[in-house]
Amino acid sequence: MKKIIYPKTPQFLDRNESQTGPAPAVYTFLKTVSLDHLSWYSRDFQSGIKSRLSKKIADDFGFDEKQVILSYGSEDLLKQIIHCYIGPGEKILIPREAWWYYKRVASERGGLNVEYPMVKGVTDGIASYLYDVDHMITIYKREKPKVVVIASPNNPTGNRIDSQDLKRFLDVCRDTIVMIDEAYWGFGSTENAYVKPYIDEYPNLIICRTFSKFFGLAGSRIGFAFAGKNLGELIEFATRYLGYNRISERLGEIALDNVKYYTKVGKQYARDKEMMYREFSKLKGFTPYKSYANFILVDMPKEIRPELKKYLTERNLFIKFLDEEAFRTEARISLGTKEQNTMLVRAIKDFCRTHPY
Ligand SMILES: Cc1ncc(COP(=O)(O)O)c(C=O)c1O
Repeated sequence: MKKIIYPKTPQFLDRNESQTGPAPAVYTFLKTVSLDHLSWYSRDFQSGIKSRLSKKIADDFGFDEKQVILSYGSEDLLKQIIHCYIGPGEKILIPREAWWYYKRVASERGGLNVEYPMVKGVTDGIASYLYDVDHMITIYKREKPKVVVIASPNNPTGNRIDSQDLKRFLDVCRDTIVMIDEAYWGFGSTENAYVKPYIDEYPNLIICRTFSKFFGLAGSRIGFAFAGKNLGELIEFATRYLGYNRISERLGEIALDNVKYYTKVGKQYARDKEMMYREFSKLKGFTPYKSYANFILVDMPKEIRPELKKYLTERNLFIKFLDEEAFRTEARISLGTKEQNTMLVRAIKDFCRTHPY
């Protein structure tokens, strides 16, 4: 087997950022940035709309522009929702196996977390985490949270909520504000047709998206959300009357017009995830989990983690060894280029071969 030539600079496969970058049209635009992009507000005063980007998103999805909220990424959207609706002692219901910021945000307002657990199962023959909607409903009825967060796909487990389950849950909590965090939209499917019917049917629902992940624009800090008709208070609270970053908004528009490019990248990720499921399943004590995102969660023997971390770090390969209550033995690997993914898998296999456990 050919010797692996490790990179000279750190390869960050631990942060769920894109290693392939945004569509070429994004760079083409950046070469043309002019006075108006830098010196003018993004609010479109002339035509009476919030901005070109929110109008485009509204038109693409069939909404009134009012129902589209822009933000500095979906981190910002979550913060806005919580700061708008949660007061001291009020509860938010969040997944237990989830992004750390869900657990932090309510405390910014003196709010309280209530967690619902995911369960383990199998999806398409691969181990997976699953939403347990019956359990979620039980907890919801008992705790009466003011806001519920559902992440689909979820970070770091990579699973998504089944649409029947989601409907069943939303039917039960019609009076509660439900945020669906779709930060990792696009990697499992580029379906959009459900957004309008859901937002129309559930007036307390907010579906949040971002340009950071699928569209590879995390550095430009821009996201968007669709808000149900009862969420006027949030729409008011979140609106920035002078707009967001004009360049970022333009990048967002370009990204939305280049879904074909991103779908191609997504297909490469899908092939590499298949390779990872296959290869990690062969390693003693390893369990890869089915992922609909740009990362994959892998369970591994606890005792090899410190040595493996050292081994990879010395070779400039960084993956995220989770170390929190819900994850003591798992690592999350962000997908990179085909070359990076192949190198990482080979490095882990080499480690396992040369460090018997
Ligand atoms: C589940 C989830 N939601 C939201 C975000 C925030 O993304 P951004 O603020 O870049 O849109 C992240 C970031 O990693 C995430 O994992």
